[in-house]
Amino acid sequence: MPLRPYIVGNWKMHGTRAMLSEARAIDRAAQRHMKVEVAIAPPSTLIHPVHREAEQIVVGAQDCHDQESGAHTGEISATMLADAGAKFVILGHSERRQGQGEGDALVQAKAEAALAAGLRVILCCGESEKTRDSGSALTYVKKQLKASLPEIPRGAAEKLTVAYEPIWAIGTGKTATPADIGEMHAEIRALLVELFGEEEGAEVRILYGGSVKPENAGEILNVPEVGGALVGGASLTADSFMGIALAAGETEEG
Ligand code: PGA
Repeated sequence: MPLRPYIVGNWKMHGTRAMLSEARAIDRAAQRHMKVEVAIAPPSTLIHPVHREAEQIVVGAQDCHDQESGAHTGEISATMLADAGAKFVILGHSERRQGQGEGDALVQAKAEAALAAGLRVILCCGESEKTRDSGSALTYVKKQLKASLPEIPRGAAEKLTVAYEPIWAIGTGKTATPADIGEMHAEIRALLVELFGEEEGAEVRILYGGSVKPENAGEILNVPEVGGALVGGASLTADSFMGIALAAGETEEG
């Protein structure tokens, strides 16, 4: 059975408790779109309040530390996130790779810590505009992904989701063409099958991210091997976010 499309909102550093009403609206709307799995990753301060109120949507986090506890001022562990109600964590987002200097080895260690704490992982990868223009996007992304992927115990591949997000498309209004998205997702699928085997490699959903909005969601989500979307800006209001979920529900597989 094909997996339900997975539409994940990444609220980034947006949202105080005033945004809880938006989360409630997303949750109510998600109850009418059961063919789609809807999730949001609010700032850490809102994980528990959203988890307490959500009936349908899944709540996750945007980052975690690679250690379970310790003298790491200002950090938050995967165990703490799970305790607050998070079910997944986004790791290796380009804003953390670039802004916080996170390398592949650290992203991999975080992913392993998250899985050990019982969280699902959305692992991000993507190339810069310069890399795309130089013609080496496929090679770059596969290398980055291979070095960032966690060790997955047998039978646990469904706990992993990969998000392909070209850096130049994030928050810019630019999106990759369906042909480029299809080509990259097919390469990522082949890598997952090579690493985890035919059956388990096919269970990992591959999301596209970068300026996804209701107007372009249908076209993007219909590309083969696109199992959903990781959405930044357009996830901040129930109207636009659920417009994307609606498009996902109407895709051929959805
Ligand atoms: P965007 O962000 O939808 O605002 O481009 C996507 C992301 O960073 O996950």
